[in-house]
Amino acid sequence: MPTPPTATDAASRRAGDPHDTEGDARPVLRAVKMRKHFPVRGFRSDKVVHAVDDVDLELYAGRVVALVGESGSGKSTIARLLAQLMPTTAGQILLDGEDATARGRKSFRRYVKRVQMIFQDPFGSLNPVHTVRYHLTRSIRIHRGNLKGAEMEAALDELLDRVHLTPVDRYVDKYPHELSGGQRQRVAIARALAADPDVLLADEPISMLDVSIRLGILNLLRDLRDRLGIAILYITHDIASARYFADKTLVMYAGRVVESGDSESVTQDPKHPYTQLLIGSAPDPDDMEARARGARGEAPSLVTPPPGCRFNPRCPFATDLCRTELPPLMDVGEGRKAACWGYSDRPDRPELGSVLDAYGERPTVAASAAAHDSEEAAR
Ligand SMILES: Nc1ncnc2c1ncn2[C@@H]1O[C@H](COP(=O)(O)OP(=O)(O)O)[C@@H](O)[C@H]1O
Ligand code: SF4
Ligand SMILES: [Mg+2]
Repeated sequence: MPTPPTATDAASRRAGDPHDTEGDARPVLRAVKMRKHFPVRGFRSDKVVHAVDDVDLELYAGRVVALVGESGSGKSTIARLLAQLMPTTAGQILLDGEDATARGRKSFRRYVKRVQMIFQDPFGSLNPVHTVRYHLTRSIRIHRGNLKGAEMEAALDELLDRVHLTPVDRYVDKYPHELSGGQRQRVAIARALAADPDVLLADEPISMLDVSIRLGILNLLRDLRDRLGIAILYITHDIASARYFADKTLVMYAGRVVESGDSESVTQDPKHPYTQLLIGSAPDPDDMEARARGARGEAPSLVTPPPGCRFNPRCPFATDLCRTELPPLMDVGEGRKAACWGYSDRPDRPELGSVLDAYGERPTVAASAAAHDSEEAAR
């Protein structure tokens, strides 16, 4: 019988990689011009929701990338595309530089072993009728082979230890409802680790947890990044947590990346007017979405996105150029990028200023889940 791979395989694979810094490294997982359009149900079947458009994204071993944006901006769709839970409309997904489109069950299973996902709701993702032991044993069997007896117990111990659910005996035979939200999320993370993945896609992993235990989960993920060299995509609507936790931050607006750079500079010195709005009007870090929507109203329709820059209906600096031509992501120095004409050398470029000053007051929170909701209703 072949020896089942151990939990250290991926770690040693990563440790063997001479390129452990982003500068000269090759991304583990990469999306190139990734796009997802969902057909709109109904008789006008030619219409689509532009959920994700032309997104480039790179994940490196031992690094965290945060994907930040308000609700409906396409973050979960990106995670699902990267997990290959649904096909892309266009673009490529590359794992270790090679096309990773899974064709058939076997290649999908190989892919999933390396790219694991953690969901927002740990209660929903664990089966209430099964114990921690069952969930983890199943995942170990799927990904490492049919370990028996002492070997399986050792693997269980190791996984629970990794997520700091110790002493193991206290947790291993518990049902999900006997655990706290944070403990459940730790079990969900342990289950993902059973695959010994190279990449974790974490879709709002702390947003449903008590504020008091959020930091503990982020610190755990950070520890996995450092100790196991896992590449992490951290999806959040809370830009403050991105600053704390992520090496790099991408800001999404209406299906597109509008700004990227190292997390510290993006949050300290935001370049794109939308990012400035998110950060500048940030009295309550838990309320970013409402604030973003409150700024001059509403998120744009993704069925008929505004022409030009998608942010133009909400942007105080918008000009005719912004309303007609889509700004590409432009270099704005220090490895940073922003998709805003204000940073171009076009003679007709808009003149940027302080977003908050331009609004004249702190943006008020309008009751507008608006375009997003009316779009949902239209479908
Ligand atoms: N399966 C689907 N069918 C149709 N539209 C979808 C589907 N999944 C997501 N969408 C739409 O795609 C857009 C982006 O959604 P999502 O990726 O969930 O955003 P986020 O995670 O940033 O809140 C939204 O307008 C949403 O309604
Ligand atoms: S200035 Fe123009 S391009 Fe820049 S964010 Fe505003 S609308 Fe978009
Ligand atoms: Mg989401």
